[in-house]
Amino acid sequence: MNLESLFSQHFGAPDESTFTVRAPGRVNLIGEHVDYNDGFVLPMAISLQTVFMLRPRADRMVRLYAANFEETREFSLDNIQKQNTWLDYVQGVARELAGASVPLHGFEGVIISDVPTASGLSSSAALEVGAAIAFTHLEQQPMAPSDLAVICQRAENKFVGVNSGIMDQMAVAACRRDHVLLLDCRSLDMEHVPFRLADHVVVVTDSAAPRELAGSAYNERRAQCEEGLKVLQRALPHISSLRDVTPADLQAHGSTLSPIVLQRVRHVVSEIARTLEAVAALKAGDMATFGQKMNDSHESLRHDYEVTSHELDWLADYSRTQPGVLGSRMTGAGFGGCTVTLMERAHAEAFVQNLPIKYLEATGRQARCWICEAEDGAHIAS
Ligand code: GLA
Repeated sequence: MNLESLFSQHFGAPDESTFTVRAPGRVNLIGEHVDYNDGFVLPMAISLQTVFMLRPRADRMVRLYAANFEETREFSLDNIQKQNTWLDYVQGVARELAGASVPLHGFEGVIISDVPTASGLSSSAALEVGAAIAFTHLEQQPMAPSDLAVICQRAENKFVGVNSGIMDQMAVAACRRDHVLLLDCRSLDMEHVPFRLADHVVVVTDSAAPRELAGSAYNERRAQCEEGLKVLQRALPHISSLRDVTPADLQAHGSTLSPIVLQRVRHVVSEIARTLEAVAALKAGDMATFGQKMNDSHESLRHDYEVTSHELDWLADYSRTQPGVLGSRMTGAGFGGCTVTLMERAHAEAFVQNLPIKYLEATGRQARCWICEAEDGAHIAS
């Protein structure tokens, strides 16, 4: 059933106050596990998206039917309590907006999404940013994408209780069609780098492997980075995050770190440099070098940061052997979720047909592939 019929079925016919919000998922091309170290990331919005069809209410209730879960949930803006469901993302955003003194009104409507959940494509950020746009639209208080993203990240950190960085919400809020977003996660300065792919495409592949470890291991990696920073600050008092550590610093002072922490820091320092090198290659039209940087990123995440998995390694290794592939790596937090592959457009159809067959043979799991273009971030669509 389409969005409008679902809306009519649950909330009556749409009227002139009804509006639609579209919030895409994102894929990060390079710059992994560096956002919480003040580094640089390079995501793009993808065509998979969460769509909200909404109508304002006269009272302070928010009532939503989630088509993916086939359920209606609601809350009062005067009584925001965690429910441990998808609604928490919307509630958390409402609470943070209220905390930032944005007046809020109730609304009702339908949410439908083709961003797969728990796959590392930021379905939760899409829900948060979409909700934030809905609330601010109703108040006629549009916010800059970076302000929206900060509110949404706070909602995720403080209300939902997931300790994520700023990348996902910024990508969903600020990306532009035919561009990748070079984001400085320290200053939140952004550069929209043209990414109009004529002869190349980006293929996202869902490994369909469980991400059970993701939460605890993510927090452990963050703690190891903090430990590395603290130890390095003894010799390098000017550094305020791992972003400030140069490869030469690490060469000189790496021996003061425990072996595991040294590995983690080495990933972060090299990944930040690699991301800037990849952007330089992209601007020069050197897609081969860009692809190589993606491969190098995966190897660093595999061996130094240790956040890949058997399935993600298999996908990256296999993809690199296929005709037309320039680079392939895991994307997002890791331990499951997706890979991202840059390849020649002419070979993409064969690639997405063959990969799931080979992957099923190798792992017993059913991969899904999407050929993606760089899309617009979240916006009011009507
Ligand atoms: C998750 C987090 C992001 C970022 C990535 C790793 O997607 O939500 O903030 O840390 O992992 O790059």
